[in-house]
Amino acid sequence: MNSPALQQKTPQVIAIASGKGGVGKTSVTANLAVALAARGHRVMLFDADLGLANAQLALGCRAEFNFSDVIAGLKTLPEIIVTTRQGVRLVPGASGIREMASLDAISSAAIVQAFSTLEEEVDFFIIDSAAGISESVLTFLGAAQRRFVVLCDEPSSIADAYALIKVMALEGSTDEIYLLPNMVETQAAGFTLFQRVRDVCARFLGVSVGHIHSVTADAHMVDASRARQTLLEFAPGGNGARDIRALAVAVEELAPLALASGGLQFFFERINRRGQVPA
Ligand SMILES: Nc1ncnc2c1ncn2[C@@H]1O[C@H](COP(=O)(O)OP(=O)(O)O)[C@@H](O)[C@H]1O
Ligand SMILES: [Mg+2]
Repeated sequence: MNSPALQQKTPQVIAIASGKGGVGKTSVTANLAVALAARGHRVMLFDADLGLANAQLALGCRAEFNFSDVIAGLKTLPEIIVTTRQGVRLVPGASGIREMASLDAISSAAIVQAFSTLEEEVDFFIIDSAAGISESVLTFLGAAQRRFVVLCDEPSSIADAYALIKVMALEGSTDEIYLLPNMVETQAAGFTLFQRVRDVCARFLGVSVGHIHSVTADAHMVDASRARQTLLEFAPGGNGARDIRALAVAVEELAPLALASGGLQFFFERINRRGQVPA
């Protein structure tokens, strides 16, 4: 773990998914990005969930272009990246892996190259993936080094988180899965929720999942998003902001992973490789 190779800086790539929508994935992702940036990390957020309440809104910024424009050859990667007022660099994503898969070898190599030039400027590359278990979500999850599954303590969210982990198991991407309970009453309740899902995953899937940190329900969250602010800006003294800051510390404390498995170049290469597999 202390080998010199691991000391070398490479972005830690984390994909955040949920199975079910509406569990607070985008809110938690945007706030986590801001909290990590506030701790002095260089954070890039790839918004692969271009739904209605997306990362742009959560961060209170507006991006004119997105990754589709890069794929179409209309813009370069630096031209679409927006730096938010909280110091997060946002890459508005393309609407699906289909678009990425439609790239020819030359343009996909160009995109891998474009991202690899950012390699040294990024500490955390965080992907807010779309809800559901689509091809695109699975591709992002499979290509990332770490996968966080956001869930709430309600039957449909638990079932969908389990279903997502099951599909990940079938795909063989079972290492470095962490549960991130959100909107729970207390940290203890979040941990209990984690334990329940962890036990079921171990028993029926043979998959071991970790717990990263829980985020408790904070009534300010809805007002914050209405005000186009992150919770950290809107109610920094509240329980939600406290949990998010602790989550950022927990993320920071995860052991750095092997250089060979990390970085943006590897991430996009893995995506392209999968994109080329016939459906
Ligand atoms: N910890 C929390 N406490 C209270 N409300 C929350 C919390 N996290 C998210 N929300 C609210 O839940 C709703 C769904 O959040 P969102 O981030 O859009 O979910 P997703 O990306 O999973 O669809 C939003 O109204 C958001 O403000
Ligand atoms: Mg979302």
